[in-house]
Amino acid sequence: MPEHSHHGGHGHGQDRQGARQPERFDARRASMLDDRARFEILPPDRIFALLAAPEGARVLDFGTGTGLFALELARRRPDLQIVALDEQPQMLERLRANPALAQAPNVSPRHSRELAALSGSVDAVLAINVLHELGDEATAQLAALLKPHGRVVVVDWNAAVERPVGPPRDHVYTTAEARVRLERAGLRVTEQEPLQYHFVLTAERSD
Ligand SMILES: C[S@@+](CC[C@H](N)C(=O)[O-])C[C@H]1O[C@@H](n2cnc3c(N)ncnc32)[C@H](O)[C@@H]1O
Repeated sequence: MPEHSHHGGHGHGQDRQGARQPERFDARRASMLDDRARFEILPPDRIFALLAAPEGARVLDFGTGTGLFALELARRRPDLQIVALDEQPQMLERLRANPALAQAPNVSPRHSRELAALSGSVDAVLAINVLHELGDEATAQLAALLKPHGRVVVVDWNAAVERPVGPPRDHVYTTAEARVRLERAGLRVTEQEPLQYHFVLTAERSD
């Protein structure tokens, strides 16, 4: 189950200033994101429990990719309103073409150009395998999505762990580095028990 973000050298834009891996996720590798075997190393039970989303809450999956986690959350929590956000139209097209989306009327695919309109409107943000791709601006936009008592759950490949899968270690953060990144975006961070290959952080607005 390799999940490299091999890139073709394109998409290294100014908007990614500060990102550990400044190249965009290669959309040609999208199909691997749909593999439900990923749930073995990224267990939805653990991750969704940390969202602590109240009944009817609005949850945003930041960098949803093909929407694997957004759709799984929708299946388990039909009461939630789930925004599945990505910057790459190809990923959103794949999600829209997934028959599971028809069974999940509570999932709305959205392009990140709509981020500003969502500012301050979200109870919980989920960010899986995406922090290492976020520049300073995107990290600040993620934090700005939250309502005053909203929270973020950040799960990403851990640079401190030797892994047979995932991006190279120098493309991702250690837990401490990830923590600093989120704190700089104005969040108060709590370290959660790590997964086999991933760190897990929750964060809330500190204002
Ligand atoms: C490695 S994939 C992970 C997808 C999904 N979270 C999952 O685990 O199945 C990272 C995704 O984040 C998206 N992404 C990266 N930076 C983003 C940004 N600033 N805003 C929105 N999406 C972004 C990429 O286009 C890609 O689809």
